[in-house]
This record gives sequence, C-alpha cells and structure tokens, in this order.
Amino acid sequence: MTLTEKFILITGGTRGIGHAITLSQAGPGVHFFLNYLRDETSAEAVKKEIEKRGSRVTLMPGNVGNPEEISQIFSIIQENAPRLDHLIHSAALGVFKPVHQLRVKDWDISLDVNAKAFLLLAQGALPLMKKNGGKIVTISSLGAKHFTPNYGAIGISKAALENLVRYLAVELAAFNIHVNAVSGGLVETDSLKMFPDFENMKKTYLSRTPFGRTGTPEDIARVVSFLLSRDSNWITGQTLIADGGYSLS
Ligand SMILES: NC(=O)c1ccc[n+]([C@@H]2O[C@H](COP(=O)([O-])OP(=O)(O)OC[C@H]3O[C@@H](n4cnc5c(N)ncnc54)[C@H](OP(=O)(O)O)[C@@H]3O)[C@@H](O)[C@H]2O)c1
Repeated sequence: MTLTEKFILITGGTRGIGHAITLSQAGPGVHFFLNYLRDETSAEAVKKEIEKRGSRVTLMPGNVGNPEEISQIFSIIQENAPRLDHLIHSAALGVFKPVHQLRVKDWDISLDVNAKAFLLLAQGALPLMKKNGGKIVTISSLGAKHFTPNYGAIGISKAALENLVRYLAVELAAFNIHVNAVSGGLVETDSLKMFPDFENMKKTYLSRTPFGRTGTPEDIARVVSFLLSRDSNWITGQTLIADGGYSLS
C-alpha cells in the first residue's frame, strides 16, 4: 500500500448521485468502501462496474443512522486500509410530509441519517485522515435554506448538515482536512419519485430553471470531483450550489 493508492469511503455510493460520484472516482489504484442500506443488486452491479476499471471494492451494507453500524464500518476500514483519503456522505433518508405533521420518529430518521451520521463519519474518519490530510464532502439540497412543500424533515436536517460542514472545516483544518458540501437542485433519481406530486414539482422546476432542464447525478458528481481534487485546496467550509441557476429567481 503506497501513497499513490487512494482509499475512499462513500455512503449511499451505489445508487443515484452517490453512484455517479463512485464512477467519477473509479480507476486503477483506488480502493472503495461503498456503503448502502439494503439494495444488494445495485451494490453488486456497481462493484462489477468499477472493478472492471481496476478499482478494489469493499461493499458495506449498513444503516448510517445507527452509530453502532458506523463503528462497524470503521472497524472494517481499519483492517483493510492504512488511511482514508476521501469521505463522501451522500446517503440520505426522510419522509415527505408537512412539518406540522411530523412524528418524532420522522424527525429522528432524517436528523440521524442526514446530519448526525455526517458528524460520526467525520469523527470516525479523523484518525485515518489526520496523518496525510484528506477531503470530506457531503451532499445538501436547496431545502436547507428555502421552503419546499413536504420537504421540511429533510430540509431541516440539511441545514444542520451545512452548519456541521462549517464547524468541522475550521476544526479539521489543523489536520489538513477540507470539509465542504455540494447543494443540488432537482436531480432525477429514484428518491425523488417518492415525492408527493413529483410531476407538478418537476414542471415548476423546469419553468424556473434558466437552462430548462433538471440536474443529472453527473452534474453533481463533477462538482464533488472538483472538491476532492487539489484544485479546491483553498476552499473549505463551503456549500457550493449546483442547480443550473434555479435558486437565482
Ligand atoms: N435527487 C435530488 O434531487 C437531490 C437534490 C439535492 C440533494 N440530494 C442529495 O443527494 C444525496 C443522494 O440522493 P439520491 O437522490 O441520489 O438518492 P437515492 O438515489 O435514493 O440513493 C440513496 C443512496 O443512499 C443509500 N442510503 C439511504 N439511506 C441509507 C442509510 N440509512 N444508510 C446507508 N445508506 C443509505 C441508498 O442505499 P440502498 O440502495 O440500499 O437503498 C442509496 O445507495 C442525498 O443526500 C440527497 O439528499 C438529492
């Protein structure tokens, strides 16, 4: 194992935006630790796809909303890697309903998987990153700042996530670790199909976005690639908005 190898942990790295991020980083000398919740078929397909490109893959099913499962993820990484170069937290969960109807359970799921998990993942990554430095990136959404119908549980958790990015960025700079987020507009993935009234929401989005289209997982993955690269070495604690200009109007 040498410094030319790269070790990357991606949560939710097997579907949607996480999948595009995984593909964007694949190549010889990369060892992926790919976490997902339960969709084995997608996970096995991604594993095959990126092994063909010369990468090694350790699949790590587990619920990142559960702190014990995050500990297990890091036990496995510690046994198989000398360090971690990149951590990307793309996994997210949440119910779609008005905030005034949220049950405690609904609130907890979003905050646990989307925000608390990021804190615990960063804490778990620190011992593996602090010697050589590293890059930590997470995925947020416009709902962190703007009202979106039925999106409150997730939007509020993303607001916490974006603030965690700022706090971690300042604290971890001492270890040459950069922490940033990419905030996406509407990207057509499986998760969005669960949105009540998805087709109407998409129509509204298309009518307001200057480029007249929705985002693709690759649009977001390219920004993540930039944040993982040396070109972004003077950027930390930021949430870069990649929404094709939707949020300008
Ligand atoms: N789609 C959008 O319009 C959009 C816009 C802005 C931001 N985002 C953000 O982008 C990220 C990815 O979203 P997406 O639309 O690509 O989602 P997606 O297609 O539904 O994929 C979600 C991935 O996360 C995994 N996952 C979900 N809950 C998990 C948990 N508790 N523990 C571990 N893994 C878990 C899933 O595993 P399984 O395959 O096993 O289910 C899957 O691999 C999220 O943070 C989301 O909030 C999305």
